[in-house]
Amino acid sequence: MAHLFEPLRLRDVEFRNRIMVSPMCQYSSVNGMANDWHFVHLGSRAVGGASLVMVEATAVTSEGRISPMDMGIWSDAHVEPFRPIFRFITERGAVPGIQLAHAGRKASTGEPWKGGHAVSAAEGGWTPIYAPSAIAFAEGWQTPKALTVTEIAELVRCFALAAQRAEAAGAKLIEIHAAHGYLLHTFLSPLSNHRTDQYGGTFENRTCALREVLAAIRKVWPEGYPISVRISSTDWHENGWMIEDSIALARMLKPLGADIIDCSSGGLVPNVRIPVGPGYQTLFAQRIRQEGEIPTISVGMITDPAQADHIIRTGQADAVMLARQLLRDPYWPLHAAKALGHDMAWPLQYERAKPR
Ligand SMILES: Cc1cc2nc3c(=O)[nH]c(=O)nc-3n(C[C@H](O)[C@H](O)[C@H](O)COP(=O)(O)O)c2cc1C
Repeated sequence: MAHLFEPLRLRDVEFRNRIMVSPMCQYSSVNGMANDWHFVHLGSRAVGGASLVMVEATAVTSEGRISPMDMGIWSDAHVEPFRPIFRFITERGAVPGIQLAHAGRKASTGEPWKGGHAVSAAEGGWTPIYAPSAIAFAEGWQTPKALTVTEIAELVRCFALAAQRAEAAGAKLIEIHAAHGYLLHTFLSPLSNHRTDQYGGTFENRTCALREVLAAIRKVWPEGYPISVRISSTDWHENGWMIEDSIALARMLKPLGADIIDCSSGGLVPNVRIPVGPGYQTLFAQRIRQEGEIPTISVGMITDPAQADHIIRTGQADAVMLARQLLRDPYWPLHAAKALGHDMAWPLQYERAKPR
């Protein structure tokens, strides 16, 4: 069997293969609600054979959205619309996951197809936005308010409440979004965290907010369900967060109940040079897996079945996440199975179309 199609078990949850749907903002929610678009978008990828279908960055508070059209789970009213989506994903043999997020200093921006710039209150944005320190992402972006210690405690509580709602809705995996320059990432990096209290300064202090969020979620999230943490493995900046920091962080997160690290990169500061190309972030997943001694997910320009299988076969990561390739082709896992000579069952409704 191709290694890409070997099942993976995390806690009590079994994944039918190693192909996962990377979280992708759809900018299609009103007041943070899931709707028919999300049902079809996520449902199609479960039909297509992925093992984990992850809901996009889902805000734990309304001002923690990236854009006004982001998904949210900041109230009990958000639970119900998720239920049919998670039920359908489960019925199709995939695991429903949700990425819990707070956008921090990158909150209140517009749709990417309109340029993705910061938007004012008049354009549907909001103010203030919050971050560990009052440092704007870039020129033309809002300067965030530095969170007080009390506000940090409240945010930690919001992450835990969101996890409880996700469970009520039927999710079986939570991913904590601590990457791409959003709130929890800005705590980690010395470039964006200039605090002098217990949440800033030393590595221990800068990782404190993320560790508190993870511990609070683990406390309420079922013992048998896994937690993934998405990190930016490096800021691609000489004074920023480094891969060695990520390895040390992974070692800290494991005993707190993290089961897998989703190894992305960048997004903290603009204008850095990133060597983008096929598998450009896979080395991070490999190093964190080996030196951090924790399962990892590799993500980033993985598009080819042989490439994906190679990552698993050579032990670089335990799973691969695909984003844009699964937008191009929701049935990519079914096609990859064929390409790798693995006999994967097609949905019965589509069986007559299966290539022989
Ligand atoms: C439309 C779109 C929306 C995205 N939204 C999110 C998101 O909600 N959360 C996140 O962590 N990454 C997000 N990303 C990043 C992807 O999850 C992924 O890490 C990145 O696109 C690299 O993978 P790829 O080369 O397979 O596309 C998004 C990417 C795209 C293309």
